[in-house]
Amino acid sequence: MKKLTPKELYNMWIEFFTSHGHVQIPSASVIPENDATVLFTTAGMQPLVPYLLGEKHPKGTRLCNVQKCIRTNDIESVGDSSHLTMFEMLGNWSLGDYFKKEMIPWSFEFLTSEKYLNIPIDRLAVTVFEGDSLSPRDEEGATAWLNAGIKKENIFYLSKEHNWWALGSGVGPCGTDSEMFYDTGKPKCCETCSPACDCGKYLEIWNDVFMQFRVEEVGGECKELSQKNVDTGMGLERVVCISNNLDSVYDSIIFADAIKKIEELSGKSYSDEENKKPIRIICDHIRTATNILGDEKGIAPSNVGQGYVLRRLIRRAVNYARRLGIKAEDLIQVSNTFIDYFVAYNPDVYSSLDNNRKFIIDELAKEINKFSQTIVAGTKEFEKQMANLKDNTIDGVSAFRLYDTFGFPLELTIELASDRGAKVDVEGYNKAFEHHQAISRQGAEASFKGGLSEANEVTAKLHTATHLLLGALRKTFGEHIYQKGSNITPERLRFDFNFERKLLPEELKTLEDIVNQAINDEVEITCEEMPIEKARESGALGVFGDKYGEVVKVYTMGDYSKEICGGPHAKNTKELHHFKIVKEESSSSGVRRIKAILD
Ligand code: GLY
Repeated sequence: MKKLTPKELYNMWIEFFTSHGHVQIPSASVIPENDATVLFTTAGMQPLVPYLLGEKHPKGTRLCNVQKCIRTNDIESVGDSSHLTMFEMLGNWSLGDYFKKEMIPWSFEFLTSEKYLNIPIDRLAVTVFEGDSLSPRDEEGATAWLNAGIKKENIFYLSKEHNWWALGSGVGPCGTDSEMFYDTGKPKCCETCSPACDCGKYLEIWNDVFMQFRVEEVGGECKELSQKNVDTGMGLERVVCISNNLDSVYDSIIFADAIKKIEELSGKSYSDEENKKPIRIICDHIRTATNILGDEKGIAPSNVGQGYVLRRLIRRAVNYARRLGIKAEDLIQVSNTFIDYFVAYNPDVYSSLDNNRKFIIDELAKEINKFSQTIVAGTKEFEKQMANLKDNTIDGVSAFRLYDTFGFPLELTIELASDRGAKVDVEGYNKAFEHHQAISRQGAEASFKGGLSEANEVTAKLHTATHLLLGALRKTFGEHIYQKGSNITPERLRFDFNFERKLLPEELKTLEDIVNQAINDEVEITCEEMPIEKARESGALGVFGDKYGEVVKVYTMGDYSKEICGGPHAKNTKELHHFKIVKEESSSSGVRRIKAILD
């Protein structure tokens, strides 16, 4: 197999797919834009959902990219040889263009040809869907693999549990898939050993999803899509690992500087088996935290949403650092090695880490400091609880108290308890957590019990309000005002724009009045597709420069707003009811931030 650096693999991927007619699109932010249904971008397809569902993509029907992704559902597995909470996904898409008979031979070519990965055919195993009432046994896929050159005994038919792909919520475009595995050469764990077991013999490296279905709401029916798509994702870190004949993703160049730094700070060696797991966890969590903090959206640690995940990652890293005898504040040095690594590896994707270095380091330092203060008090409380254990278990309310009052993430309590041979009542904790949320949450959030489609509707309305707010800002302060950032959660919109000073209360009131006037005017919202030049001539605002291709969508809201935008939006401004600004603050130098709600 060819020995590759991460950048060589990145370039090879883009070269292969552009030579097959694909257009490269940039990696989206790790914080999804205008999507309140997920916290992080978990797959390259996520920003493409509208296009997989049938909307026209401005760059055509064949796309490829390398997407930074965050998945924290497997956080417990981090520290083994292959799991990471942040990874880069090499992806390519057919939006109603080619399908299985093109994609499988291309996958085979990329995996095995001398020009590309050059993996010996014998080291590859693939899976296809075994069939159910919705989708037949994938003989077409199996035959395509066989014809390409995969041995019959290395093609496995697996159930829906393994060979069906959808987003975590289960909602959105979905379909059967065919996964590709690298056979590590380890002996079979049993007679029936296959890519379905997690014994470590087979490492998944690539997934071809054949997306021909969609699910509209949680638990909803699976319906045929009007177009057949292909969505594939290959794990960059895993392929770099096997291409360099390594046992673990952590042993590659991607983590080399960080591991060296941790060894230096702790005086402990990564080659000692007992140090491997804590060192890997610190690396993983600081790497992911650095990328969440350094994203263009600038998320900081908090007790909700992305901020809470970030807080958990940092606090978990601190906990493992303490075990290795590293001073918590020295984790900043580990973060710096990752910033340096990413910027040197791929400045096109990661320059925001360098630009936001101060924010990353400041927020990391603040969080570490906060945690260090609480940990002393929390440890005392923990010891009190340990002295009063019933059934050798910390009950849910006590575990929640450790979290809520002392800032101990649940994982930390579980880990500390397990070090002492005790358990934690996780179910009880979750109940206490939910109870707490139910009483402290505002009405807006509670209304989301209605499910995803309702969440989407609210998101669309807040998105419309964002356009109206920009219109109001430009009307009030002049045409030099532009959007600098936007983020929407089910509760609120957050909008950043260029402005040098704090806004006065009466100015905020003017902005609210203009937006509420637009709402009261019951303006119909129209959407038109047109070439980008025509859109610009018509005076439509576009904030993303060259990201757009030939044909763009222009959303018009009477005289209040005209913007190039992917949508979605409300149909009429009256759906927004009432607009209220809840906060105005500085975002960064020369940039102000407004948070607003619809009530
Ligand atoms: N979207 C394909 C994957 O994540 O495997």
